[in-house]
Amino acid sequence: MFNGLKLSDLPLVNCGVLRKASNTRPTIWIVEKNGVRAVVKDFSGNRFLFRNIVGRFLIWREAKAYRKLRGVRGVAEFFGVVDGLALVVEEIPGRSLENLEKEMQLPHTFFESMETLVAAFHRRGLAHCDLKRAPNTLLGSDGMPYVVDWAASISRGELWLPPFNLVFRRFMLDDEMAIVKLALRHCPERVSAERKARYHYRSWGEKKVRAIRDRLRELLQKAV
Ligand SMILES: Nc1ncnc2c1ncn2[C@@H]1O[C@H](COP(=O)(O)OP(=O)(O)OP(=O)(O)O)[C@@H](O)[C@H]1O
Ligand SMILES: [Mg+2]
Repeated sequence: MFNGLKLSDLPLVNCGVLRKASNTRPTIWIVEKNGVRAVVKDFSGNRFLFRNIVGRFLIWREAKAYRKLRGVRGVAEFFGVVDGLALVVEEIPGRSLENLEKEMQLPHTFFESMETLVAAFHRRGLAHCDLKRAPNTLLGSDGMPYVVDWAASISRGELWLPPFNLVFRRFMLDDEMAIVKLALRHCPERVSAERKARYHYRSWGEKKVRAIRDRLRELLQKAV
């Protein structure tokens, strides 16, 4: 569908800019071709070194994640990469969960569907790692959850070596705890006491694991 799309074509198929580029963030375009709408995350408008080092790396990583996730319900269809600098995915009609609790309360069934979705991408060997940020979860116009922004995701294969496999398990747990965090904003009365306790629990060992995880995440983020 979007095969053969070039960066110079983007203004021609453009339906609107969702977000302009900033120093460290790409432009987000909505484009349309033959009636199909897509979202394009595009680093071509960022500064030379940033776009060619960070931008290319992030697009490569996110594309790798989208390829692994093909066919998972709740993940946008991957349409491709343009010139190494822009990622094209299916547009999910709906809106993000950012500040949504001020307008409406999502039912607990939404978060149950989110658990199914998270379990599905964990089975594919991917941890999202940035699910606590509400803008990365969308409420589709079909009422179902969709997860975007796979640039920070980690795959099991990158952390298979013990003891790093434990860190990967920790990233998966973080994804699950992110659901609790979001659910607490919408339907706290439906979050079980056990899950609430797990969400708030910090043992000595856990604090250590969190410190290692945070350091590792910092290093990985610096590397990108
Ligand atoms: N496939 C999609 N369908 C609909 N909207 C999308 C899609 N992908 C991204 N968006 C919208 O664009 C926003 C930014 O996308 P994304 O999080 O991937 O970019 P980002 O540069 O990583 O942003 P941030 O730094 O804020 O996390 C999302 O919060 C969402 O509102
Ligand atoms: Mg995001």
